[in-house]
Amino acid sequence: MKAPVRVAVTGAAGQISYSLLFRIASGEMLGKDQPVILQLLEITPALEALKGVAMELEDCAFPLLAGIVQSDDATVAFKDADYALLVGARPRGPGMERKDLLEANAAIFSAQGKALNDVASRDVKVLVVGNPANTNALIAQRNAPALDPRNFTAMTRLDHNRALSQLANKTDSTVNDVTHMTIWGNHSSTQYPDLYQAKVSGEAAMEKVEQDWYENDFIPTVQQRGAAIIKARGASSAASAANAAIDHMRDWALGTAEGDWVSMGIYSDGSYGIQEGLIYSYPCTCKNGDWEIVQGLEINDFSRGKMAATEQELAEERDAVAHLLP
Ligand code: NAI
Repeated sequence: MKAPVRVAVTGAAGQISYSLLFRIASGEMLGKDQPVILQLLEITPALEALKGVAMELEDCAFPLLAGIVQSDDATVAFKDADYALLVGARPRGPGMERKDLLEANAAIFSAQGKALNDVASRDVKVLVVGNPANTNALIAQRNAPALDPRNFTAMTRLDHNRALSQLANKTDSTVNDVTHMTIWGNHSSTQYPDLYQAKVSGEAAMEKVEQDWYENDFIPTVQQRGAAIIKARGASSAASAANAAIDHMRDWALGTAEGDWVSMGIYSDGSYGIQEGLIYSYPCTCKNGDWEIVQGLEINDFSRGKMAATEQELAEERDAVAHLLP
């Protein structure tokens, strides 16, 4: 058996974590031969609820669960962490403007970035799920100057998975037939789900769907899927978000499927003309615990416009919290 790795999860008593933690502990994220120590962070008022979650984790008697740490102190929860899933965030309250939301979260993610910088493993792989995920990841990254910026990522895998299912349904196929899906940009309603690169059973997806469906049905459906779920369920996506977090981390740690790619919000190096340093979702392949942006894709004018619009939104979010960035 391998030595245990430390997996920190914030917002550990919340909805997403209630689906996420049990799957991490069962080996679905890092493999059935990889023991894990869960290091759970919550705010002080939620520690009692967290205790209940930890009791349930114990009651599952997971063979791979080598320990549970519970804390309201980030420097305890992130100590020597090999993986950090930053799920907890401040939700938008009544009357709260987008700017207030950005600021409230900036405070949380700057503190957590500093704590990661001070105590986490030097190779810690960070996934930010809490919204606004890309900008929260940027804030954490900027507060962690001792860590490689490549180790900070934001989750757009849920959008990617939503897009796979929408395309599979439309083309009477299954998600197994769909490859080369791409989400560009921000995890928000400006994201650009790109079908020009996608394939169904090895053939160009755009040959199998109408342009009108693509522009007026597929793109808005993927962009607005989160809101549609809140409307139907009366609560935001939790199990599917947890599933996407597992997919993101598993592929990053263990590698993407040969001949395909996934979407990850990552530190832009300027590829495809996107401003360097933004946390922007790109098509990525992963190998040996590292990611790489897929290069050389042909970008038409339609795609270029959509990629620029979501880039613009990310630049505005960054500028709105600029006074809080080191
Ligand atoms: P939730 O409200 O059920 O749970 C959030 C938990 O985080 C709460 O238990 C809260 O006490 C905790 N928390 C708040 N501030 C914290 C802090 N500073 N440190 C540690 N814990 C803290 O929310 P849920 O449904 O679990 O969602 C969590 C986040 O994920 C939200 O921001 C949501 O918008 C986001 N989300 C992101 C998705 C994505 O695709 N990137 C998809 C779905 C949700």
